[in-house]
Amino acid sequence: MVFVLATNNPNKAREIGALFSCTGIDVLSLADLGLTFTPGEDGNTFVDNAVQKATETAAFLRGRADSADKAYAVLADDSGLIIDALGGLPGVDSALYMGADTPYEVRNAFILKQMQNVPDEGRAARFVCVAACVLPDGEVLTATGTLEGTVARECAGVNGFGYDPLFFLPERGLTLAQLSEGEKNEISHRGKAMREMARKLEGYA
Ligand code: IMP
Repeated sequence: MVFVLATNNPNKAREIGALFSCTGIDVLSLADLGLTFTPGEDGNTFVDNAVQKATETAAFLRGRADSADKAYAVLADDSGLIIDALGGLPGVDSALYMGADTPYEVRNAFILKQMQNVPDEGRAARFVCVAACVLPDGEVLTATGTLEGTVARECAGVNGFGYDPLFFLPERGLTLAQLSEGEKNEISHRGKAMREMARKLEGYA
């Protein structure tokens, strides 16, 4: 069985590849197969979107002439940042918040400005990741991971991607962007969801 990761986001592909590297399951990205495909994500929840991405990518792979003899398991994730003081934004549409092409420096600065008068006790936020896997027989598995934190007073750190520089971990006194990739994977929403998924996939590899 070939495990294919349904993402065109190289940051996610790198993080997820690292997370699966110790499981015995080799995960190939669409790019590794020389393919590009962008599934829809029309749902209102992380679960709906993760399942949609995995299902549509599996159908795309099945429809290719050279796939007839291959059994693909397709792994997808949907993730985002939920900020309580902003009514849950950027939420399910985190990738599109303020426009897909808007640099994260601009998005993060805008969020900090909106939050400048929010006291410490009102700054709770969490990253959520749902992993979905469609097996060759059509069975769908899902796993969810969450990382709790707060919105920092200012951005810090250069590692990671996206909203990492503004996501503060009070117990460490650091933002997610100040952790190494390995440290982030140990605690992250994506790490938790993918480890849970890897456990569910034991025996299928
Ligand atoms: P998706 O590709 O539709 O799942 O959107 C995920 C989006 O959520 C990313 O493009 C980022 O905006 C945000 N996001 C998810 N996980 C992370 C993370 O680990 N760090 C920073 N931003 C993240």
